Amino acid sequence: MQREHWGSRVGFILAAAGSAVGLGNIWKFPYLVGAEGGGVFLVVYVGFLIAIGFCVMIAEIALGRHAQANPFGAFKRVGGKRWSIFGLLAVLTAFTILSFYSIVGGWTIAYVVKTITGGFSGYSGAEFESHFGELVTSPIEPIVYHAAFMAFGVLIVINGITSGIERAAKIMMPLLFILLALLVVRSLTLDGAMAGVRYFLVPDWSHLDADMVAAALGQAFFSLSLGMGALITYGSYLGEKESIPNAAGWVVCLDLLVAVLAGFLILPAVFAFNMDPAAGPGLTFITLPAIFAELPFGIVVQLCFFLLLFVAAITSAISLLQVVVSFVGEEFNVCRQWTTVWVGVAIFLFGVPSSLALGVWGDVTFYDMNIFDLLGYITDTFFLPIGAIATCLVAGWVSYDKFAAEVTNEGQRPFAYLTAWKWMCRVAAPIGILWVMYEAIFGA
Ligand code: PFF
Repeated sequence: MQREHWGSRVGFILAAAGSAVGLGNIWKFPYLVGAEGGGVFLVVYVGFLIAIGFCVMIAEIALGRHAQANPFGAFKRVGGKRWSIFGLLAVLTAFTILSFYSIVGGWTIAYVVKTITGGFSGYSGAEFESHFGELVTSPIEPIVYHAAFMAFGVLIVINGITSGIERAAKIMMPLLFILLALLVVRSLTLDGAMAGVRYFLVPDWSHLDADMVAAALGQAFFSLSLGMGALITYGSYLGEKESIPNAAGWVVCLDLLVAVLAGFLILPAVFAFNMDPAAGPGLTFITLPAIFAELPFGIVVQLCFFLLLFVAAITSAISLLQVVVSFVGEEFNVCRQWTTVWVGVAIFLFGVPSSLALGVWGDVTFYDMNIFDLLGYITDTFFLPIGAIATCLVAGWVSYDKFAAEVTNEGQRPFAYLTAWKWMCRVAAPIGILWVMYEAIFGA
């Protein structure tokens, strides 16, 4: 059967940017900037995004396009049987991450629904805090929203690459940018917003330490959707005439743009209302709603914000779902529609314990971590970096010639930084990633 391809270059870029731009940009990036000391984190982050993230992204897309297969098939075809284990690991990582990513995605639906139905009217700061606590610890409610989120994902992916994922990206990504632009304007025009802008943009080098640098590199990988097979999979549907460095460049720029805009949205608002920028994960679900409640027409702002978060989350989730669906569909030769439904159900069920871990199963811990945190720790610290290193080694050493031909379209589109890219994949990126693993395991 002929492999499906993206309808256009823009379609691929929007879908890949949709994968990259997610909760990582709007939820995690601003709270990391807040917690890790502001502008200095931004500077280190941008450095990693360009130097390492861009190179690994090129390698992933090239691997997928060259092999015309899901991550397992791709590693097997390009590196031989021994390397296929890393493809399998990527599929497993995508499966695991989606199982808890979807829980947070479900919370965004809960907030959209509650905002529309007036569930938050009259709430003040403390009430938002207790509401968030009640939502995430409840045994039923978040699981219902988790199911709804997965159902959205399945409904998109079931329609295939062009009519499903590409079409959704073409509608949702422009919507995301419009919502984001509106919210940034609102935030920057608040009295006292400039203190937040300064905190975000002016580096204070005294915050520079190993812990922060490791967090920045980890975040760069997560934000660009690297190490989980998403871009290998999306790359496998990319037409052979397209330039991979060019497409990857667009995706990195769009991802960075959204992270920076999210910083301009969240930090000025936090400073204008004298809130704590280092509030951590609750910044988005507790601090921001409390701020919105103080604004005129705050309910509209709140609705736009949680819609934005939902859109960002779902376009990322579908790329993770597609990783698993393409693997099962191709390796076991089963029809796409049924595969999508059953994979969706399996991921939903696997995610249920993670949701319960935040409430009734909170006492079930391993190494002092509940199930939700444990899965995040294992995937972030081991699976994701190992997948990224394996891609670099295959691209830089095992099959460099094939990759070089893919990246330059058989020499027809020379890539000015090919040599730098080669050494990045061979040495610098793997060492950088190994160091982050070391920091995550043995660091403070
Ligand atoms: N890049 C997404 C984010 O920043 O939220 C998360 C993600 C999606 C990671 C898809 C990996 C992936 F394959």
